[in-house]
Amino acid sequence: MSDTGSVVGIIGGTGLTTLSGLEVKGARTVDTPWGVPSSDLTEGCLDGQSVMFLSRHGNPHRIPPHEVNYRANIKALYDAGVRTVVGVNAVGGIHSDMGPACVVIPDQIIDYTWGRAGTFFEGDLEAVTHIDFTWPYDQAARDILIRAATNCQVPFAGFGVYGATQGPRLETAAEIRRMERDGCDLVGMTGMPEAALAAELGMRYVCLGLVVNRAAGKSDHIITMEEIEAAIEQGMSGVRQILENSMADLGALASLSQSS
Ligand code: HPA
Repeated sequence: MSDTGSVVGIIGGTGLTTLSGLEVKGARTVDTPWGVPSSDLTEGCLDGQSVMFLSRHGNPHRIPPHEVNYRANIKALYDAGVRTVVGVNAVGGIHSDMGPACVVIPDQIIDYTWGRAGTFFEGDLEAVTHIDFTWPYDQAARDILIRAATNCQVPFAGFGVYGATQGPRLETAAEIRRMERDGCDLVGMTGMPEAALAAELGMRYVCLGLVVNRAAGKSDHIITMEEIEAAIEQGMSGVRQILENSMADLGALASLSQSS
């Protein structure tokens, strides 16, 4: 897989520590100037497309959202030739359309995280660098995922503002009400700084969110791990179907990036 750009990167989150359906060709243990990524990179083929898979929380699932080395993860994928990344995230639904097992392909982010290493542009720099981040998710990749979700008849929302919180605790009901007033439709703990780091390296990045609970205060009960696990069980097959169904188009998009 030395053909830089034509391989699609998938970062699996909670509930997607390994990618069933991936025809595994090998695993790479890698290091980066920013440290070691959360897991080995698994090289494989999904629906005929070259894929590099990384487990965001490690394998087994052990690294909490605020301790993920996002820089190492993104740089490891970049060094492996990836220029197009799908980040899969378990999220809470704030918008009334976003109930458990709904898939969301958001279009915007608000970042509420703090204290995370969130840029490659620091330290011994020749010049201060600011990237444009108006549209955090790649529109062409979003269109592909939305088409795939439609093809697969998976319940989905093709819009949404992702509010990225620090975790690992879930939010209070008042925090969710504030986020709703801010315009957030979904809430998760791992969307940032991952998206910004990918943008800093010029990679196409898109989020595939799986709603695993209604956000705090949005249902008549408190959030339990049992509820989350049940929604993962129910919804992850839809995520897998969308990934498989989108691979040919994402691969074509990735090849385009390679030549541009
Ligand atoms: N809040 C934050 N992150 C989450 C949630 C939530 O309700 N559900 C899954 N990830």
